[in-house]
Amino acid sequence: MTPGGPPPILFDVYGTLLDTASVARACETVAPGRGAELGALWRARQLEYTWLRSGAGRYVNFQAVTEAALRYAVRASGARVAEDRVSALAGAYLSLDPFPEAAGALTRLRGAGHRCGVLSNGLPEMLLPALRRAGLADLLDPVLSADAVHRYKPHPRVYGLGPRALGCPAGEILFVSANGWDIAGAGWSGYRTFWVNRAGAPDEELDAPPWASGPTLDALAELLGAGDPDGIR
Ligand code: LAC
Repeated sequence: MTPGGPPPILFDVYGTLLDTASVARACETVAPGRGAELGALWRARQLEYTWLRSGAGRYVNFQAVTEAALRYAVRASGARVAEDRVSALAGAYLSLDPFPEAAGALTRLRGAGHRCGVLSNGLPEMLLPALRRAGLADLLDPVLSADAVHRYKPHPRVYGLGPRALGCPAGEILFVSANGWDIAGAGWSGYRTFWVNRAGAPDEELDAPPWASGPTLDALAELLGAGDPDGIR
């Protein structure tokens, strides 16, 4: 990075660039009328399992965590689903919808000179196809995965991947996430943070407030002076 130039930006992926709620469609096929509920339980359990496994030093990769969380969520929902169908359903994480403003905001941020990459819990084998399918892969470099350190966010080793890859201190990198706890984790590791508070959630009580927040990625682009939502500067 040029000193004093536009800071590099690392984005969280799930919930920030890609919409985890879009698994609801696939979940409808096994739980008609309750796809959104099953998808939300699946996501909640997926995150809890990452925290538990990372905290206890019991790492298994994000694909395995995602499938385990789905098996739990299916059982808890009372849906009857064959084991091979569960594995197929876990594939929904490879075809998540991007948030509608993601490609435009990334394009404008890159146009304003920001290097844009991702720092995610996801395995590279999950992230790359999903970002490609969402039309975002060509806008993002590097793609950093927690798998490199066999821990999950908010472990400091995961956030440590950013400074190492970008060759500058965390304080010179802007970390962007829609997950309040991920914002706190990155803040604890020294990043400047922007919280995409899509749901209008209250502030977290984790002693690491974001540098700034806004409802969408467009709000970030506007804050950084990277053009208006129509791409007209
Ligand atoms: C990720 C999860 C935390 O992409 O959303 O790392």
